[in-house]
Amino acid sequence: EDISVVVVGSCMTDLVSQAPRLPKAGETIHGHRFFIGFGGKGANQCVQAARLGAKTAMVCKKHSKRDHTSKTGGQVGRDVFGNDYIQNFKNNGISTAYVEQTENAATGAASIIVNDTGENAIVIVAGANMLLGQEELQRALTAIVNAKVLVCQLEINPDTSLQALRMARENHVKTIFNPAPAIVDLCSDFFKASDVFCCNESEAELLTGMSVTSVEDASQVGLELLNKGCGSVIVTLGPQGCVVCQPTNAAPKHIPTTTVTAADTTGAGDSFIGALAFYMAHYPTMPLEEMARRANFVAAVSVQTVGTQTSFPFQKDLPTELF
Ligand code: RIB
Ligand code: NA
Repeated sequence: EDISVVVVGSCMTDLVSQAPRLPKAGETIHGHRFFIGFGGKGANQCVQAARLGAKTAMVCKKHSKRDHTSKTGGQVGRDVFGNDYIQNFKNNGISTAYVEQTENAATGAASIIVNDTGENAIVIVAGANMLLGQEELQRALTAIVNAKVLVCQLEINPDTSLQALRMARENHVKTIFNPAPAIVDLCSDFFKASDVFCCNESEAELLTGMSVTSVEDASQVGLELLNKGCGSVIVTLGPQGCVVCQPTNAAPKHIPTTTVTAADTTGAGDSFIGALAFYMAHYPTMPLEEMARRANFVAAVSVQTVGTQTSFPFQKDLPTELF
């Protein structure tokens, strides 16, 4: 196996509406564009790592496309959007050997609204993603234990994520854990199983109960998370870049990013994490702060174009200094 990055996580169909602003409860507003895209945090991260040049594999679960006449008679169990996610993985050079299919649930879906300043609000219905479990991990065991880096999020059953992180750890595979979407009562074992614990400001708030509105707040919250037993912590801050906390450094380090005009920030965090996974796998001796600086740059490129995976840059589109 020459796969360097394995992602155990979600794949979703993104249903995206662009509107001047996010609607209020009970309100209907006019949007100006609608499109369907390939998403899910796990798949997004895998795609970004692959586009930078990593050999990747995705361990995930989607609806089986073969079944177009659901035996349950209802919507559940039908791949209503007909998107072929397997083909999308292949187009991105990602191994689909561990993409599992089920007839018992629909492929995950995300309803996304993006406003004119590029901010978003998202509701996910995880569907088949929740059926990824122990058995599927066992089938992917060889890939996981031989990888350089394993990446997990929280759009699948948390037990599956934790188990994957542990499998990797026991075999000296570096782990990146992205607690997204965050849950208040995250099991403390997640921190101990994370070489790099990487979250955004709102996830950090939810996990610690501290409010994060500045670089200083992010530094404090990062140290708090580090104390829970993570190898290192990165708190991403959108236009302000990120803060890196490491046990070997006395103080958290703020890594600013380039100023850009945001068209759509959806998936920027995934672009950052995919890039981080690529650097950890291919430049293992590079300081984490330098990886974060480069990942900031990659994510900043992604926010300048509409869509999630559609906006993720390839190695050939990026300055050679990044490689
Ligand atoms: O992080 C962005 C992603 O979150 C979207 O692609 C959507 O699928 C949701 O999972
Ligand atoms: Na984008």
